[in-house]
Amino acid sequence: MPRLHARIETRLSARCFYNNNGNTHEENVILSRVSLGGALIEGLRHYTSDTMVVIKPERSGLTDVELIGEIIGRQHGGVAVQFYYYDIHGRRKLWDYIKRHVVPSNVCPYCGKKIHAPSPQYCPNCRWLLDLSDDEYLLKHDRETFAARLQNRTEALTNEQLGRIVNCIDSELLKDKSGLCKDKFVGTSDCMQKVFSLSEKVAATDMNVLILGESGTGKELTARAIHTMSQRRQKPFVAVNCAAIPEGLLEAELFGYERGSFTGAYNSRKGKFELADGGTVFLDEIGDMPLNLQSKILRFLQERVVERIGSLGGKKIDVRLIAATNLDIVDAVKEEKFRHDLYYRLDEFSIGIPPVRARGDDSVTLARHFLLKFCSEMGVTRRFTNEAITAIRQYHWPGNVREIINKVKRAIVVSEDMQITPETLGVSGYSLAFPCDQKLHIESLKKIKNDVERQMLREALSSSGNNYSQAAKLLGVSRTSIYNLKKKYAL
Ligand SMILES: Nc1ncnc2c1ncn2[C@@H]1O[C@H](COP(=O)(O)OP(=O)(O)OP(=O)(O)O)[C@@H](O)[C@H]1O
Ligand SMILES: [Mg+2]
Repeated sequence: MPRLHARIETRLSARCFYNNNGNTHEENVILSRVSLGGALIEGLRHYTSDTMVVIKPERSGLTDVELIGEIIGRQHGGVAVQFYYYDIHGRRKLWDYIKRHVVPSNVCPYCGKKIHAPSPQYCPNCRWLLDLSDDEYLLKHDRETFAARLQNRTEALTNEQLGRIVNCIDSELLKDKSGLCKDKFVGTSDCMQKVFSLSEKVAATDMNVLILGESGTGKELTARAIHTMSQRRQKPFVAVNCAAIPEGLLEAELFGYERGSFTGAYNSRKGKFELADGGTVFLDEIGDMPLNLQSKILRFLQERVVERIGSLGGKKIDVRLIAATNLDIVDAVKEEKFRHDLYYRLDEFSIGIPPVRARGDDSVTLARHFLLKFCSEMGVTRRFTNEAITAIRQYHWPGNVREIINKVKRAIVVSEDMQITPETLGVSGYSLAFPCDQKLHIESLKKIKNDVERQMLREALSSSGNNYSQAAKLLGVSRTSIYNLKKKYAL
């Protein structure tokens, strides 16, 4: 594998700081080979492999640069150090130094092969950028070598770690694109990273999407983000709340009607599907849609043709459908309140948005985000007390993100000083009604089980006068189990 960074031979004096076996060392060293990726150090005495070092060059122009890296072994009479990706400022300064010391030659500074063509832009062998004097060199080279730099590291990662990294990249992309949406997504928990990643993936397709989640979890926000990230973003996003429109009007609202088709239809009107042509229709609370209308939606999904009420023909419409509900849709299908064929059609790609109580520390991140947002909108300063942060973590947020928004907004208004307490927030006195994450859930169940087991054993032993056989009968277990339990609970 060719080097990723152009390297120079030099004599750059520096101070090197590191810890080894609990002792701190500070030594004068010489960097004899330097690149953006690492250096060869002469003069290090107490190091071992994998030691982390901080190098402060002593050359003017570099005195405020700190290079942080790890020793990877002995090479060419020195110690090779690989730099971590350090700050942009330090990188730029080091690059200026390297650039000034590159000796022009017809040998590639990366792969070391001879270059025969006159001044090519890229090395014909390793294909890295050769024009080191280009002002944009660092930007271009960092981008062009990114995949190779990742590749170097991926071998050491498990598939699970790779998956998390991909999710993280997706959520970064989503954050950028959701900048186009009015509201931004907040959330760093694994389960929300997964939601961001799924949204990003499905946005690139034309699949129907079913978003499931409790009230206030961000179903509409997710639907809008999918639309904004899709090819349809320039076309309309039309939201319809199926639960808020009276049953009799919903069909006209969705499919439109022709003049005179019913009493009061003085003019023809386009329905939401027609209005969204080319874009996305978001059917919110689809679980509340009447059964007869569900079959019309199903027909539309099969034929992609909209027939206005009272019209003789249909019109081909191109929309993506995103639906959402806070009902247990599988139960609704079982109870025949929701058509199973429509469910399967919508369930092409489903995204479950977790409740806030299952998002770990996201409740605190969300509360802090909205505190900052509303304070800057209102031109005031407020902060949460430590007790408020604990209470935010423990409260179970049945109204999810919407409840966080409302409680934070209210607390800013009612708080009499800069501090927001659990009381002003309206979340005091709550214990962890619902566990925040799966681990805690398992631990607390275990604890409850142990407590009950210990209590039952005590009672059985006491009512049997410490007779193990009788206690075993009472509890429906073997005598050996009684011995083991006694030992376990030190009774
Ligand atoms: N992860 C998030 N980060 C920031 N704001 C969020 C997030 N999730 C939701 N919100 C905000 O919370 C509010 C409620 O979200 P939204 O309306 O999308 O929820 P919903 O699931 O559709 O609720 P309902 O079931 O009540 O219709 C909105 O103001 C939305 O912008
Ligand atoms: Mg909604």
